Amino acid sequence: MRKIVIAGNWKMHKTLDEVTDFLHKISEWEDAFQHKCKIGIFPPSIYITIALQQLQNNNIFVGAQNVHDEDFGAFTGEISPQMLSSVNCKYSIVGHSERRHIFGEKDDFLNKKVRSLLANDQKVVLCIGEKEEQREEGKTEEVLENQLSQDLKKIKDQHMKDVMLAYEPVWAIGTGKTATPNTAQAAHKFVRDWLTDNFTEEIARDTTIMYGGSVKPKNIESLIVEEDIDGALIGGASLNIESFTKVIELAEKKSFK
Ligand code: PGA
Repeated sequence: MRKIVIAGNWKMHKTLDEVTDFLHKISEWEDAFQHKCKIGIFPPSIYITIALQQLQNNNIFVGAQNVHDEDFGAFTGEISPQMLSSVNCKYSIVGHSERRHIFGEKDDFLNKKVRSLLANDQKVVLCIGEKEEQREEGKTEEVLENQLSQDLKKIKDQHMKDVMLAYEPVWAIGTGKTATPNTAQAAHKFVRDWLTDNFTEEIARDTTIMYGGSVKPKNIESLIVEEDIDGALIGGASLNIESFTKVIELAEKKSFK
């Protein structure tokens, strides 16, 4: 069965002192809270090794927010899948809407990243989602289908166990405008059906599809009860230890009744 995953994407936030303080608090919380879902954080890459060290006795994964597809080379400012493996970091986000729309990353590049990560035994969180105008024009499914088919091109069935998806409508990210549970569920169902059609029924059943976009303690319960929503990728509300752990506790209550 697929796992419920709650992960925090810190984006470009936090100083070293703030990171250390957060990690200390979440590690104490995690010791005390017998959780069943998978919990993760995606700190800025400069803090990945610190987070891995500080959480080594905890059951919380640490991942990179972005990665290049090449193993090494003249790519100033980039980090590689091989580097992540060498520090024992096993997860990476690919295709976050900020990478797509602020930094102009295209689907063929994202596909190369996915393939390179999987070849390096890494786990991938692939983000997909439509912009507001695309939704208004009724193009949501077309956008999702395009992103999925290009970003997961040439991925073999046996590698899909290392791929998680995050449906993140661009208009809901950092805006306070969460998709309604019905809207999110419809998109997740579309994605799961696409997985059935393009991979296998088993892969569709077992692939975690997180929702992202202004997830907070006040809306997680209504989202997580939806059949095809298997967790959350959280930006703003993951920066604060109280709101992040509250989302996890509320999600657990609803999803493991
Ligand atoms: P948000 O960000 O929770 O602040 O909307 C989500 C994301 O970008 O993953």
